Amino acid sequence: MQKLDTSMTPNRYTITAALPYANGPLHIGHIAGAYLPADTYARYLRLKGKDVAFICGSDEHGAAITLRAKKEGVTPQQIIDKYHYQMKATFEEFGIAFDIYHRTSSELHHKTAQDFFTQLNNTGKFQLIESEQFFDEKAKQFLADRYIIGTCPKCGHDSAYGDQCEKCGSTLSPTELINPKSTLSGATPVMKKTSHWYLPLNEYEAWLKVWLLEGKKNILKPNVFGQCKSWLDQGLQARAMTRDLDWGIKVPINTPEAEGKVLYVWLDAPIGYISATKAWATATGKNWEDYWKKEDTKLVHFIGKDNIVFHCIIFPIMLKAHSEFILPDNIPANEFLNLEGDKISTSRNWAVWLHEYLQDFPNRQDTLRYVLTSIAPETKDSEFTWKDFQTRNNSELADIFGNFVNRTLKLTQVNFGGDVPSRGEELTLYDQQVLSDLKDFPEKIEKLLENYKFRDAQVELMNLARLGNKYLSDTEPWKMIKFDRQATGTILNIALQIVGSLAILAEPFLPFAAKKLQMMLGNGKNSDLIPENLRNEENPFLWENAGKSDLMKSYYKISDTIEVLFSKIEDADIEKQLAKLAASKTANKKVEDLKENITFETFAGLDLRIATIIAAEKVAKTKKLLKLTLDTGLDIRTVVSGIAEYYEPEQIIGKQVTLLANLAPRELKGIMSQGMILMAEDKDGSLKFVQPNEIVANGVTVR
Ligand code: 2FM
Ligand code: ZN
Repeated sequence: MQKLDTSMTPNRYTITAALPYANGPLHIGHIAGAYLPADTYARYLRLKGKDVAFICGSDEHGAAITLRAKKEGVTPQQIIDKYHYQMKATFEEFGIAFDIYHRTSSELHHKTAQDFFTQLNNTGKFQLIESEQFFDEKAKQFLADRYIIGTCPKCGHDSAYGDQCEKCGSTLSPTELINPKSTLSGATPVMKKTSHWYLPLNEYEAWLKVWLLEGKKNILKPNVFGQCKSWLDQGLQARAMTRDLDWGIKVPINTPEAEGKVLYVWLDAPIGYISATKAWATATGKNWEDYWKKEDTKLVHFIGKDNIVFHCIIFPIMLKAHSEFILPDNIPANEFLNLEGDKISTSRNWAVWLHEYLQDFPNRQDTLRYVLTSIAPETKDSEFTWKDFQTRNNSELADIFGNFVNRTLKLTQVNFGGDVPSRGEELTLYDQQVLSDLKDFPEKIEKLLENYKFRDAQVELMNLARLGNKYLSDTEPWKMIKFDRQATGTILNIALQIVGSLAILAEPFLPFAAKKLQMMLGNGKNSDLIPENLRNEENPFLWENAGKSDLMKSYYKISDTIEVLFSKIEDADIEKQLAKLAASKTANKKVEDLKENITFETFAGLDLRIATIIAAEKVAKTKKLLKLTLDTGLDIRTVVSGIAEYYEPEQIIGKQVTLLANLAPRELKGIMSQGMILMAEDKDGSLKFVQPNEIVANGVTVR
């Protein structure tokens, strides 16, 4: 096998994961896109003993926040406070181990972003340009890109935003939209003059072609490279770095033009990586500049595909223009994750929300991590289904990984009192082969991780568990113990070496299981299970020890309590999740089914009255119908209603209901029905009366 050249690998890494907008809870699409691969990578590097700053935080400015505030009827500050803390807690609970989870509303960030802007401004990197921008005359304000929707010029999607079409992923400018409308008032916006600070991206085109297209052709993932190339092929334009808004970071300039203006959220957000690093460095006694200004630091941005242009083109231009910073080495962006045959959507509640998952599946973080890495959209969009989730847990994690570990530990406990048995002098060819295969795994996994191939890396991890499982099944130590204790000891020793390596190599992927396993294996020198004079100097569960044939020393003792690492997931748990999604679908369908607009005159044609039920009986030979006698205040009349499944006749005498009194009479089962009573259909399809919330006179109108 070709050796991995480690002489060139740096020792210091700045790893960033896209700052999520603090405008809603996290779902599996977020995790699969940026956070899980970033965490896997950071964990691996830490295990290798690298100096890692793994940075994230909440993106708390921009229209994403103000729109949400408007929707929830609260202030932007209330929105970011609510979601920042919620996301932070969810990440932690899920085992996404950032070194810091910061926020862009912090004072430190405001100052860092303003200083960055000032530096660019003072060195003449901006152009102050007056232009016409969309203005909502009803709402009396300039419209942020996100406040304008219209038809996408690229794919025809009818609700593309002014900055981006979520259907085809194109980045847009609001003037490109066909038939633009303000989301604030619904009005067609007008053009109005305003001045802004522009970064002339076009001036950096030649440099980008060399740095990015030539320099990173073989480094960037093909999906990332493709997007960058197509952007550069189309030619870059100057982009406004300020906005007319009242929520955001004030433009740090004292002139009338800067009044009422804030920094563009895509200028401010990536600087959030820098301010977060500063906050972390201050808290830990490090020097933040080492992580952003030293050429031997490797900067890697983990993002989803909708952020590619900002991280591959705009942010690098900002860094280059500023001149003091290093540039990203790589930007491993993932494509999108779909859910059960449909796009994940917050507004349609078509998502698996992480905080709900953690509640519904307590202590199963690793299962979701495993599944999301198995299906990671590394090169193209991929799909999460609950059935697949169950199968991967039950037939891979439980049946292969868990089963192998459990069999090995149990056999060691039962037959050797938990002591790691020593190997006999003579190894069979098979034993030797297994040890030699074991030795190759760390490097295989490492190579894949270094190349951001997390799916394949995890497959290799499972292959190691498969190797162990097969070895046990082939050598059958449970039979061997009856006639050859020494040979059984050899087998279990070898199996334990594999288990030990799994406890290390699994850590980036399955950190909870890896920790549990390390504890069960005696956790090296820290363990009370090892006699003090025999305790190893070093923690054995370091990456460099994976693959070793003497990782598990014969003086180690495994724990008395052997826990099952991965239990099976029952059908009922999956059905519950599917039912949740089905409920979203039904609710969405109701919204989709919204009928065409009608005029007020049409509505006024309905004669709606309050009436009281004075008699009720079942209609013979039907299941659903009740014959009701109503006092309408004007007359006593008969109405046949399909409510027999929901109400017993005797229960409803005396109840007030809403009657459509001028519906043309019609015959039902031989009874003339004079009107129709209004019912509310609940989510489960059951019907309930629509009633005034206080008793009113019969015959009063409803309007
Ligand atoms: O797309 C998003 O969710 C943005 N909030 C990502 C920002 S990444 C970075 F630049 F901060
Ligand atoms: Zn489109």
